[in-house]
Amino acid sequence: MGKRTFCVIQLLSKLQSVTSHIEIITREIRDEEVGHFKAMTFPRFRPMLKRCRDYPNLYALGAWYQGRPAGLVLLSANPDKANAELLSVFVLKTLRQKEIGSTLLKQAETFLGDLGVRAIETKYSQSEKTSPAIEKCLSKAGWPKASLRMILFKSHVDNVLKAQWVKRFLEGEDGGVVSAWNSVSVQESAALEQQDWIPQELKPSVHASQGIDGAAVLPELCFVCRLKGEIIGWHFSHRLDEKTVRFSVSYVHPDQQANMVLARLWYHAAMQMKQTSYSIIRMGVAVQHGRMQDFCKKWLSPLCDEITYSMGSFKVLHQEQEAVWI
Ligand SMILES: CC(C)(COP(=O)(O)OP(=O)(O)OC[C@H]1O[C@@H](n2cnc3c(N)ncnc32)[C@H](O)[C@@H]1OP(=O)(O)O)[C@@H](O)C(=O)NCCC(=O)NCCS
Repeated sequence: MGKRTFCVIQLLSKLQSVTSHIEIITREIRDEEVGHFKAMTFPRFRPMLKRCRDYPNLYALGAWYQGRPAGLVLLSANPDKANAELLSVFVLKTLRQKEIGSTLLKQAETFLGDLGVRAIETKYSQSEKTSPAIEKCLSKAGWPKASLRMILFKSHVDNVLKAQWVKRFLEGEDGGVVSAWNSVSVQESAALEQQDWIPQELKPSVHASQGIDGAAVLPELCFVCRLKGEIIGWHFSHRLDEKTVRFSVSYVHPDQQANMVLARLWYHAAMQMKQTSYSIIRMGVAVQHGRMQDFCKKWLSPLCDEITYSMGSFKVLHQEQEAVWI
């Protein structure tokens, strides 16, 4: 932990009104203290917390309340330290609403500011149960109100295959012929890279070998659609766990988007899923893909077991000093 500056903040004045001997201390946690804190973040971050040394841009600040571990904030900075992400913030249930969470957030900002970080963002899933606390806590620490960044859909594959609309549009091949993505030749792939109708982040080359988060591609669940020999759409699936597949990226030429090509690609992926051990489909649609969001709300929502709204907030930590003209 030598690379890190320990910051110790004692907040006595505000809290002394609650009892006569209350003390919150926040600082980076040491290797030997990880055991007390590892349950205080999401399971996916726990292995990283245990091996903090292997992640030079990961920072774990703990809060101690009356000398006992009480809360944790986990932060990840970009390698150039310009931006950072608040990965999680947690306070033990029995110690909530004692300003520990908001203190941790404020200290996280001071800590990142000292590293030279200029802005921080965070994402969380909206839920009636947990959102009011995190939203109040962020607001108390001076964060702007969060806005919708993504809608996350979760469905069982059987729901998709049973849907009436699926059967209706499958009749006829007017919208093109669907084949396995593996049928795409090197020449076709290279030609797609040059097409200007494809947004950069949706290009097949970005998703064909693995997900942007490193998730393994499932080649048997990836499809392409051709119309008169020209590629007009594709769908890529990635593995999330032994049961769950993410329908990560599906895109159709803007001129063909009215022809339900997208839904046909999904149908093929869902049909093929029945030949595998996967049964759950997850899909996230970013708010900037408005047409896709409308499409999913209309056709996918009725088939979903769960729809989650992913919220995001962004806070500027350092404003460039304004120029002063004399
Ligand atoms: C979110 C969390 C960290 C807040 O910690 P905390 O120590 O209770 O927060 P604070 O005491 O600093 O409270 C800050 C503000 O939020 C309010 N608040 C806290 N919990 C609240 C709740 N359940 N409902 C409504 N307001 C709440 C406080 O009253 C306070 O506002 P005030 O000063 O106007 O009264 C804590 O509730 C928690 O660990 N939740 C579970 C984990 C989680 O959901 N994390 C977020 C995703 S990473």
